[in-house]
Amino acid sequence: MLKAKTKIRKFRKSAANIHTDVKAPLVEALENFYKNPMMQFHIPGHTGGRASYQPFKKLVGNKALLLDTTDEFDNLGTLHPATGPIKEAQELAAKAFGAQRTFFLLGGSTLGNLTLAMCQSKKGKKVIVNRNCHRSVLTGMIISGAEPVWILPEKLNEWSLWGEIEPSEIEKALKENDDVSMVWITNPTYEGVVSDIKAIADICKKYDVPLVVDEAHGCLWNFNKNLPVSSLHLGADAVVHSLHKTGGSMSQSSMLHITEGSKFDPDEIERTLQLLQTTSPSMLLMASLDAARANLESKKGKRQLSRAIQYARFVRKKLAKIEGVNVLEANEHFDRDITKIFISVDGLSGKRLESILEIDFDIEVESASDIGVLLLINIGNTKQEIQYLINSIEKIANSNYSDIYYIEKRKHMPMVTPKIVMNPREAYYSEKETVEKEKAVGRISAEVIAECPPGISILLPGELITEEHLPYLNEYNCIEVIKN
Ligand SMILES: Cc1ncc(COP(=O)(O)O)c(C=O)c1O
Repeated sequence: MLKAKTKIRKFRKSAANIHTDVKAPLVEALENFYKNPMMQFHIPGHTGGRASYQPFKKLVGNKALLLDTTDEFDNLGTLHPATGPIKEAQELAAKAFGAQRTFFLLGGSTLGNLTLAMCQSKKGKKVIVNRNCHRSVLTGMIISGAEPVWILPEKLNEWSLWGEIEPSEIEKALKENDDVSMVWITNPTYEGVVSDIKAIADICKKYDVPLVVDEAHGCLWNFNKNLPVSSLHLGADAVVHSLHKTGGSMSQSSMLHITEGSKFDPDEIERTLQLLQTTSPSMLLMASLDAARANLESKKGKRQLSRAIQYARFVRKKLAKIEGVNVLEANEHFDRDITKIFISVDGLSGKRLESILEIDFDIEVESASDIGVLLLINIGNTKQEIQYLINSIEKIANSNYSDIYYIEKRKHMPMVTPKIVMNPREAYYSEKETVEKEKAVGRISAEVIAECPPGISILLPGELITEEHLPYLNEYNCIEVIKN
């Protein structure tokens, strides 16, 4: 016990020294939990790591296991309903993001999307949604029984990526469909393309339909004016943020924000979350959300973010000057998040570039397509890393790395116009059979097929499988279809 207390004093000192300008009640509560160890006759059964597998304990450290606890114990508060330090931490998050209410999610933004689908679907059958939505949006529709009205964003053909969503397409869909429960937009895209959310929100208001924005990849936007404006301030009713992606919290932890004047009832969101969320929420994950928010609000965090933005600008400028390197930039049609840099190198597919960077340069990128790779400039990246990244790409562009599959393997993102013949939920719960891929043409899909990352669907339950789909299904031998 004495040993643990000595360690705590050090922990408290260092935490207090770094961030004196912000509050993090959940981090403090967890610190107190650690400071005042109790004899545990409760979950988790590893009992502060005493009963953990030793190599694992050695790997993650004793402290991580001592801090691994759930809500309810030792004045930590509860998640559902939110009480104590958890409630306080959620309130501080709402204030930081400018929301009416903010909810901590321990199942990623996936959980936020499922919650919103469940809450809204009973208010109308149809959901206007962009085709390049994340598969959790589709899962939400399978759960709720909603009928998707697909919006096809612009295509950036040379990059084989989806681009921005045209507001006029949303208006057209709203005009042509009644019984619409919500408009559900992904912004930004995984690669950082930003749509005109203000214009879309104004249209939704005109038609009195709520707007949900899956801003999973945009949680930093609120904290620096050189980033796009968050949908929270552009008229969205609900916004989902994956803090764990770029905000600095631990994997799996996200936030769902209900905006001021939202058409969503926060109490209903809370009740629905209670149905879907784990009943043993990890304090470490929740404290990491509190910590990430505090960090982004602190002077240190603000410096980190503006440095990351400067680095991103620098990388873009330097890479654009290298012959044979192409960088996706904003144009007159769309804005972009500067920190997400999609590049291609002439003569190499994205997958080959990814493996060269990994094997020869020890650089791991966010993702790779057949065309290019996505680099994320994070708040934690250093100047040395940035310079090394630029040098490495320059070396690759100036070497004669070859890619024998370059031409043949260049396949485009699944940009097939969906032919819906059955409601996704109905199809998902229908009798199914598995058939060879080639024999699936002309049949109705019974499964979600989505490459991850970025988790954008090629096919979903209830859609007609056509010849057009086959090039995107290379990794599949068989497909689940509706039984004839
Ligand atoms: C646009 C979008 N929404 C939602 C999600 C799901 O997020 P999470 O991994 O936090 O569940 C992702 C994941 O990549 C995503 O890209």
